[in-house]
Amino acid sequence: MSAAVFESEPAGAQATPKPERRNAPAVLRVDHLTMRFGGLVAVKDLSFAARRGDITALIGPNGAGKTTVFNCITGFYKPSEGRIALQFGDPEVWSEIERLTERGTRSAGDQKGMLFLLERMPDYLVTQKARVARTFQNIRLFPGMTVLENLLVAHHNALMRASGFTVIGALGLRSYRQAERAAVEHARDWLEQIGLLDRADDPAGELPYGAQRRLEIARAMCTNPILLCLDEPAAGLNPHESAELGNYLHAIRDEHATSILLIEHDMSVVMRISDHIVVLDHGERIADGTPQEIRHDPKVIAAYLGVEEEHFSQAGSGASA
Ligand SMILES: Nc1ncnc2c1ncn2[C@@H]1O[C@H](COP(=O)(O)OP(=O)(O)OP(=O)(O)O)[C@@H](O)[C@H]1O
Ligand SMILES: [Mg+2]
Repeated sequence: MSAAVFESEPAGAQATPKPERRNAPAVLRVDHLTMRFGGLVAVKDLSFAARRGDITALIGPNGAGKTTVFNCITGFYKPSEGRIALQFGDPEVWSEIERLTERGTRSAGDQKGMLFLLERMPDYLVTQKARVARTFQNIRLFPGMTVLENLLVAHHNALMRASGFTVIGALGLRSYRQAERAAVEHARDWLEQIGLLDRADDPAGELPYGAQRRLEIARAMCTNPILLCLDEPAAGLNPHESAELGNYLHAIRDEHATSILLIEHDMSVVMRISDHIVVLDHGERIADGTPQEIRHDPKVIAAYLGVEEEHFSQAGSGASA
């Protein structure tokens, strides 16, 4: 591959983020994160922040440590060192971060704003309390369940609360029936947004690949996340589907109070839709900036020179790899 792929302006390239977005408070702060597997250091002293309302991309060659960072954020791995803080509501609560760190507890705040230290939380609390949702590098739908049922699974917590956590409640309580109706409506609303309402009763495993990817993202969105972590959502998509995915992620960013953290190898997608890019190589951050800054960064170009050409050969033309 040549360095030129980062130098040309892709068609439909995203402009520098709007000034109001550049001044937005952080939704996520990763400070000095290190993850070791025995002697292997997969992530080394990594620090970055993702702003509220941004699409932040985490990119880097194969094995750079991207998925490991996601696994640390979402509570799948306990980091060897470092702090991962997520905040929503009134950003004033960020001022509590040092006190919270010293206190050794998981969260601070009240109804106005909350701050969580994710590295202290098990994965189910990261999802339920800190409202972080994710999709996986390999699709993880329930293929034998219908498209609608796959989305209803995401409403499990709300339904359990409405049942009073009892079988009797699930069978008889009006609050449960109301919650059930609301869940179906919410799920149908998402199916409409991703253009799959007419497939609601088909098994998810029968959908084309691109539609399964969209369904997985919709399922994550059904939990009303503050932060949505997507691990290679464009993998396996054709150029048309990749372009559609980009529009879909922009719509999520613009219409919902959800910030997006995106791992992606398809540079046409990354350069077109990201507001901010963090580049990892061998577990270390080598660059951090706007798509324009990253495209011209010599360290980034050098890191990618070892990567197979097909990953990036069309990034400069706005088409998918
Ligand atoms: N559970 C684990 N045990 C041991 N080593 C691991 C584990 N998870 C990841 N690694 C190693 O950590 C390094 C980073 O892996 P990771 O999956 O985070 O990379 P990645 O940037 O997501 O790569 P790709 O683009 O190929 O998905 C690799 O060397 C990998 O083999
Ligand atoms: Mg990965």
